[in-house]
Amino acid sequence: MEIKYFESYEKMSEQAAEIVANEIKAKPTKNFVLGLPTGSTPLGMYANLIEKNKSGLLDFSKVTTFNLDEYYPIKHDNSQSYYKFMFDNLFGSININHENINIPDGEAVDAGSECESYEEKIKKSGGIDLMVIGIGPNGHIGFNEPDNFLLPDTHIAVLTEETKEANKRFFDSVEQVPDKALTMGMGSILKAKKILMLVSGKSKTEIFKKFLQGEISTSNPSSFLHLHNDVTVLSDVGI
Ligand code: GLP
Repeated sequence: MEIKYFESYEKMSEQAAEIVANEIKAKPTKNFVLGLPTGSTPLGMYANLIEKNKSGLLDFSKVTTFNLDEYYPIKHDNSQSYYKFMFDNLFGSININHENINIPDGEAVDAGSECESYEEKIKKSGGIDLMVIGIGPNGHIGFNEPDNFLLPDTHIAVLTEETKEANKRFFDSVEQVPDKALTMGMGSILKAKKILMLVSGKSKTEIFKKFLQGEISTSNPSSFLHLHNDVTVLSDVGI
């Protein structure tokens, strides 16, 4: 595992975009499969990727994306849906073929079969080449919350009160944060060939310290990354 510390969020975001761009460029003729997160942390990286695309330095026309998660149920046009977040902050501003964008469908009538077909689509794409993730203050990855057990595949997750509290800043009140989400499982994430984790902000200090201790426990889903052999962590959190 490679861990790199940055003095500023801006520098960390530039480096994150540089890593993503280099991976995409290294596979120019084939379809590159990119896993993507939401949250405040990746916003700087997305701004840098848009910049690179606009200046002709990076082509997204052969990139397929799979988002980590989505609230459930939620309409695509809800101001807090991850669908809207992704179009507002990345997809609407780059030359990606919209048919190659995959986000768990918050509008699905049958959430169970949506999860199954999402997992199947990842498999059919040939698997994720690079999975970019953030980390929740409680160690969650996507919406894989701390629990007595974790699930391997894409599934319906019940949000913890802690996560609802952490995410309420985007909603009018905590009551408006959906109780559930559709999320890739830890297995879907760990099957990616490479993983890039971004850790930013003071609220992540405690969990990042715990992560660095290296003990693997379902009480800290991020700790499972220690089982993967190609993980890069970029952080602006001074420990
Ligand atoms: C949400 C997402 C996670 C993300 C986390 C941290 O709960 N489901 O994928 O990593 O928030 O978000 P932030 O970067 O805003 O701290």
